[in-house]
Amino acid sequence: MEISPFVMGLPKVELHLHIEGTLEPELKFELAQRNGITLPFDTPEQVRESYDFDDLTSFLHTYYDGMNVLRTSEDFYDLAMAYFAKVATQNLRYVEIFFDPQAHTSRGISFDTVISGLRRAQIEAEQKFGITSALIMCFLRDLQPEYAMATLLESLPYKHWILGVGLDSDENGNPPSKFAAVFARAKAEGYLLTMHCDIDIPGSIDHIETVIHEIGVARIDHGTNIVENPELVKTIVERGIGLTSCPISNTWVSEGTKVELVKQLMAEGVKVTINSDDPAYFGGYIAENFQRVADEGQVSDEFLAQLAHNAVDISWAPAVLKAELHGEIDQYLAQA
Ligand code: HPA
Ligand code: ZN
Repeated sequence: MEISPFVMGLPKVELHLHIEGTLEPELKFELAQRNGITLPFDTPEQVRESYDFDDLTSFLHTYYDGMNVLRTSEDFYDLAMAYFAKVATQNLRYVEIFFDPQAHTSRGISFDTVISGLRRAQIEAEQKFGITSALIMCFLRDLQPEYAMATLLESLPYKHWILGVGLDSDENGNPPSKFAAVFARAKAEGYLLTMHCDIDIPGSIDHIETVIHEIGVARIDHGTNIVENPELVKTIVERGIGLTSCPISNTWVSEGTKVELVKQLMAEGVKVTINSDDPAYFGGYIAENFQRVADEGQVSDEFLAQLAHNAVDISWAPAVLKAELHGEIDQYLAQA
């Protein structure tokens, strides 16, 4: 995909990025070799060609399968550093990174192994690339809430490294209400709250209503099905609850990018943002996702800059950093 100089240089913020979803086939092979694991493929190209998901469930199967090569703290460090190096070329300035501790603790990899590797990469990326980052710990919604609660308790000694909690994995049959007690406890512990409301899931609107009114999230991951209920749209505009939309990801798990919905929701005053979700699997990092919006939506540079401003607004970055990022975007647009 051809990325315009404007999109490439625009200072960007990413709020919906699963670090395990940045595992490129080349690194998968490298880590497999290092850890003495045999992959059922001969080349990275073969791995890429095997990606053939058409809904959330089939994607998740490949996604969890791929993680098996992540074993040591160094593996998690390498995974995150590869991501930072990639997006440093796309002028990513700040990122809130999802990680899935249960996808690892369930395989016998300790919480400390995961988070210490990620943390080391975050510190190094700030120095090396000037990218500031924070961690959001996601619970897997297709597992039991008791396991999520145990993971929440396990995270408490690392609280100063974790900004908030999220909810991901298979939403089918796993409504947000299942995790109401876990999220209430997370909030009491000082974590900020977000949850996935994936695209075109049976019960999407009910789930969105629950996360707003019962869970009390600060933002919603995906969530563009909210257009089906104008009353809920009004509520999130009033409360400043933003959406983290992932255009290229949407094409893999449902139909189309939903860019038209992004435009509609923006026009209605919703703070929508553009994100990459699982770039190594869906084939697009932050800049490719912005470019997809530009190409398909035929929107102006001002519109793209507004999407970047929205991400700063609904991010959980410190006020000083937010002011700095808004300034960078404004200055960039003025000179474009
Ligand atoms: N939805 C649900 N679970 C996920 C996703 C997603 O977009 N990416 C990684 N795990
Ligand atoms: Zn996601």
